[in-house]
Amino acid sequence: MSRTSQEVLYLVVCAAGAAEEAGRLVALAQDEGWAVQVVATPSALDFIDVAALERQTGRPVRSRYRKPHEPKPPRADAVIVAPATYNTVNKFALGIADTYALGVLAEAPGLGIPVVVVPFVNEALRARTPFRRSVEDLRADGVRVVLDPGDDPWGRALAELGVRPGHLRK
Ligand SMILES: Cc1cc2nc3c(=O)[nH]c(=O)nc-3n(C[C@H](O)[C@H](O)[C@H](O)COP(=O)(O)O)c2cc1C
Repeated sequence: MSRTSQEVLYLVVCAAGAAEEAGRLVALAQDEGWAVQVVATPSALDFIDVAALERQTGRPVRSRYRKPHEPKPPRADAVIVAPATYNTVNKFALGIADTYALGVLAEAPGLGIPVVVVPFVNEALRARTPFRRSVEDLRADGVRVVLDPGDDPWGRALAELGVRPGHLRK
């Protein structure tokens, strides 16, 4: 099927070791027909190959808010946060928007945009009350948090989205 404007999946990448595998999720999403916009937290820039992701997606990796005179980027049709850090999960739940990645996340649930979060968080941090509370609060806001993604976190993130390009209303 040809489309004049492809649906856009925003992939928010945080500063966790698994960020180096973000290209795998990009490839899976592209196979489903998504255009992929990578949004990196500022710290995540040290964990990813920016040039490789830009080649793969055909779009600049975004990590900062645009300047007021710069054009608005296309709206996200869906958002996946993977890997999601302890830090970003907690900030997202609190409504903090001090980076571009968090700004995207702050607005998405209110716009009715599906959001899937796949935390890569060790047992010590997972056990903490702030994290458990954040997961609960995000779920109450309609955000899908995948705590046990199994051995294919990237495929699971896409499956959990529950929507595919061309079928955005389930
Ligand atoms: C090598 C390395 C690996 C890390 N892996 C993780 C991780 O898997 N999960 C996590 O929550 N934080 C991890 N961190 C810590 C985060 O990078 C740190 O909390 C950072 O402030 C997160 O920023 P962000 O949420 O804005 O991306 C790691 C740090 C380093 C140096």
